[in-house]
Amino acid sequence: MATMKRTKALCSPRHAQSFRCFAFAWIGFEQAHPVLMVVGYIVLTSEAILVFRGVHGTKSYKKAVHLTIQGLGFWMAVFGIWAALRFHNAKGIDNFYSLHSWLGITTVLLFGLQWICAYAIYWYPGAAGKTRTSVLPWHVFMGLIIYCMALGTAETGLLEKLTFLMMNKVIGRFSLEALFVNSIGLLLIVYGALVILASTLPKAT
Ligand code: HEM
Ligand code: HEM
Repeated sequence: MATMKRTKALCSPRHAQSFRCFAFAWIGFEQAHPVLMVVGYIVLTSEAILVFRGVHGTKSYKKAVHLTIQGLGFWMAVFGIWAALRFHNAKGIDNFYSLHSWLGITTVLLFGLQWICAYAIYWYPGAAGKTRTSVLPWHVFMGLIIYCMALGTAETGLLEKLTFLMMNKVIGRFSLEALFVNSIGLLLIVYGALVILASTLPKAT
């Protein structure tokens, strides 16, 4: 109920009918950020990494699925950061002051750069065979580093959010909400470790 009231306040009458207000009417900009970053960005990019291990089809088909899902993940991240910025601006809170926000923006910028370079080398216009082969270990290495940075950013985001809520006495240290968020943090690490394991084990022949 409180979220609904806050969202109504954030949406000016001019925008009352717009998609933006409709989409956030039930969730709110503050809550949209973690959901878009974890379910949109991290889960989508995890699935994209696993494409070469789990999807059947030609190499070209797998590449097309890989690059499309990575691209979708990128736009989810941009949308998620926009939601956080929008919430901050509406509340008059400073932007980009925390380690979480610095890590987050660096991660998403590197991710965008990696996507553009990989697109040019492996898709269009495409580099010579020798260059593709020699760049691939760097593509995989950088891809996994950026993935770990995304996991680290999400962990600091969860910690920051919990700390705000505890400091403002919204939730208790051992409340159900705190235990739930801590569990999400642990599960995210286990999930990330399994994705990295799957992408580094030798491919099934
Ligand atoms: C890969 C995942 C994530 C990325 C890349 C990311 C990125 C960012 C960025 C760039 C900001 C700064 C916005 C601004 O200054 O206006 C921000 C803010 C914020 N994020 Fe995240 N975020 C991620 C996940 C999460 C998660 C899972 C939570 C958990 C609740 C969270 C909580 C917050 C909070 C509370 C803020 C506002 C305070 C601050 O600026 O540090 N984030 N995030
Ligand atoms: C930021 C976006 C991207 C990230 C984080 C990323 C990450 C990765 C990772 C971790 C792998 C290793 C997967 C495995 O061996 O199971 C991989 C493989 C690969 N990626 Fe990407 N990637 C991105 C974008 C792209 C794009 C746009 C293309 C263009 C087609 C591309 C082409 C490839 C190719 C050809 C492979 C090698 C597959 C194989 O081993 O046969 N990637 N990528």
